[in-house]
Amino acid sequence: MIDYIGTERIRALIRDIGITTFVEQLAEEIQADYRRWSEFERSPRHASHSSVGVIELMPASDGRFYSFKYVNGHPKNTAEGLLTVTAFGVLAEVASGYPLLLSELTYTTALRTAAMSALAARWMANPDSCVMALIGNGAQSEFQAIAFHHLLGIRELRLFDVDPAASAKLEDNLEGLQLEGLRITRCRSAAEAARGADIITTATADKRNAVILTPDMIEPGMHLNAIGGDCPGKTELHVDILRRPDARIVVEFEAQSRIEGEIQQLEPDFPVIEFADVVAGRALGRGCTREITIFDSVGFALEDFSALRYLHRLHRASQGRSELDLIPHLRNPKDLFGGLMPAIPMQSMEDEPQLPAERLQDSDRKVSSGELA
Ligand SMILES: NC(=O)c1ccc[n+]([C@@H]2O[C@H](COP(=O)([O-])OP(=O)(O)OC[C@H]3O[C@@H](n4cnc5c(N)ncnc54)[C@H](O)[C@@H]3O)[C@@H](O)[C@H]2O)c1
Repeated sequence: MIDYIGTERIRALIRDIGITTFVEQLAEEIQADYRRWSEFERSPRHASHSSVGVIELMPASDGRFYSFKYVNGHPKNTAEGLLTVTAFGVLAEVASGYPLLLSELTYTTALRTAAMSALAARWMANPDSCVMALIGNGAQSEFQAIAFHHLLGIRELRLFDVDPAASAKLEDNLEGLQLEGLRITRCRSAAEAARGADIITTATADKRNAVILTPDMIEPGMHLNAIGGDCPGKTELHVDILRRPDARIVVEFEAQSRIEGEIQQLEPDFPVIEFADVVAGRALGRGCTREITIFDSVGFALEDFSALRYLHRLHRASQGRSELDLIPHLRNPKDLFGGLMPAIPMQSMEDEPQLPAERLQDSDRKVSSGELA
């Protein structure tokens, strides 16, 4: 039996612990794992692209545990009543190779992305940041808003989406939560949302080199949390923002971000900083108050590894645990076949060859005449 977390179970776990505690503890878990960066086997994710989206596999291992996530990104899906991003994943132990947990990761991806965004902003944004523009108000947006309110102290959110219904949904959901001291303003353009913000989060979905932010929208000291540009040919920032001499770009895993991040628009040797160097104190997340800091987020497998380990502990420690009989449990592990016993017929009744009607009549005749007796 392996542990199983489906959508019902993740709802119950989040309800029990509270979403802010969940995000806070997950951010701590992610930070602790980035601090032991060198212990991880790292590789860019394996991406299978189509004209409408991408399906990706994201593996990570620290030598004791191994994890992978299956995730898709299909920006056109919402028009058909489907999510843009869905995911599930597995945590396994390296010693035996046995899976320990199969989990939903659709909610968890939104939570871990929000935790990671807020964590990066803690290291990179000016400490007195309290106004955030949130551009792209779809599935990820509430999670971003909650994490930045709770972990960064954001007190004003300025929303913009090309789909006004998405912003209305975000505003309704946040108002329902009654987050302490949070003021919400809906804006008519990305430029209006960005004006006067300390932090800009872009979480749009469009499979093209979109230009959500242009250089004229950027003010001294801003922190940009760019999460929607995460595939080749799918970006959100005008390249001149990245090229500003006062810009500092931090990425998760450079080899993957060169392919998928905003920095795919730059030369391969354009200087960037890995987040692991920031949390280890080898590099600064911000050099001075007026610098533009850019977290060029694409999502790295280590964050899902952290999330799966965190979820596994939470799942095991709380009531209502469910399991799946995914792997055979055998008395003799060399007798895999025996696990199918007793009594499997070589052919199912349905598979037995049917005799053609004439042959049937023929054999009936023979039997009835006693020729086969
Ligand atoms: N970096 C990461 O770790 C990470 C993790 C999860 C998702 N993502 C990415 O985040 C993005 C958002 O994901 P989601 O699940 O919220 O998608 P979604 O489809 O639910 O929401 C995207 C929103 O962006 C809006 N939008 C599209 N173009 C816009 C524009 N030009 N200006 C303003 N708004 C625009 C859409 O109307 C929609 O409401 C996706 O691109 C996804 O791939 C990144």
